[in-house]
Amino acid sequence: MNTLSMAPGVYWTGVLDPDLRIFDVIMKADHGTTYNSYLVKGDKGCALIETAKEKFRDQYFQKVFSLVDPSQITHVILNHTEPDHTGSLGALLEQVPSATLVSSKNAVPFIKAILNRDVEVLTVGDGDTIDLGGVTLEFFQTPFLHWPDTMFTFVRERGILFPCDFLGSHFADERMFDDEVDDFTLARRHYFDHIIRPFKEYVLKALDKIKDLPVKMIAPSHGPILRTNLDKYIEDYRQWSLAPAKGEKPYAMVFYLTSYGNTKQMAEEVAKGAREAGADVGVFDLQAADIPAIVDEVERADAIATGSLTINGDAVKPVWDLLSSLATLKIRGKSAVAFGSYGWSGEAVRFMEERLKGLKFKVPAEGVRAQLFPTEADLNACRELGRKLVGSLSA
Ligand code: FEO
Repeated sequence: MNTLSMAPGVYWTGVLDPDLRIFDVIMKADHGTTYNSYLVKGDKGCALIETAKEKFRDQYFQKVFSLVDPSQITHVILNHTEPDHTGSLGALLEQVPSATLVSSKNAVPFIKAILNRDVEVLTVGDGDTIDLGGVTLEFFQTPFLHWPDTMFTFVRERGILFPCDFLGSHFADERMFDDEVDDFTLARRHYFDHIIRPFKEYVLKALDKIKDLPVKMIAPSHGPILRTNLDKYIEDYRQWSLAPAKGEKPYAMVFYLTSYGNTKQMAEEVAKGAREAGADVGVFDLQAADIPAIVDEVERADAIATGSLTINGDAVKPVWDLLSSLATLKIRGKSAVAFGSYGWSGEAVRFMEERLKGLKFKVPAEGVRAQLFPTEADLNACRELGRKLVGSLSA
């Protein structure tokens, strides 16, 4: 597949990576991805928007230079500097040494760390423009979508918005336009959940910032180019970024893993204490849990309690699966505690507490450990733990 014409003087020059199955080490990408790059040609200058992952450098250069001679490229726009977009930057600058690098101010240290040398960068702010002759690049600062450096570029004469990761998808389909590719609805949501979700408040700010732009096409840096249903794509992001609806009572979720029923018994007492303190409470066996669904619930919850037995000196895998999935949530303001039964060493509770604190939960009380079968005193301590968990929400 070669390049695509998107509008007069605007081309897709990206590459497809259909075989990718894991992005950024942790994110599943069942449909591969694309590293989208764009060329914008004016009467007096040409700009490249983004480069490509280093592995695809030669293919990327072949595409770009099939459309334009290196000497004609006047600007390289870096909306965001993560290496999936900047991996080819160093090699590109060898080909276009006189091109002006353009980025947000926040991107400059990243650019220097990527090139490992000092470099001149033209930094742009909200509303700054670059006239390429007949087409104008206009910039909008949109930090944390998905790094502190992110900005959007808008080509007003063509109505094309280039928002880098924002509104992207890991979805490789060489037809590229949203109305021609296979259904990528799930990939779009999956992408939001794993890349954008931690930055919801910035999504809302960015949507507000671009709301009056006459956008006719959205050209993200991953996945299909959007030219139909733009209002729906934008509204989805708005809805997904709104704070979850809250009930009248605080909501606590109690998770447990159990071999012989001991930690389950403790979980039920924690739940009882939490109810006594005025919370609505859900109790969940993590052994059979659907972690993605639980993550959505945790987002809505005010407090969680995690219970695990100890095996080989550690909490067991499902609880780590849960806790590692919470990194994409806004945790501040939520409370958490830990508990668990053990045989002879009982490290699980301490390790879970450390992780909960690392995730920025408030941990209002020391966890409860019970050796093998919990005693009446252990169960009372669990009940008190549940009370303290919920009590901490108003403290
Ligand atoms: Fe596609 Fe945050 O890089």
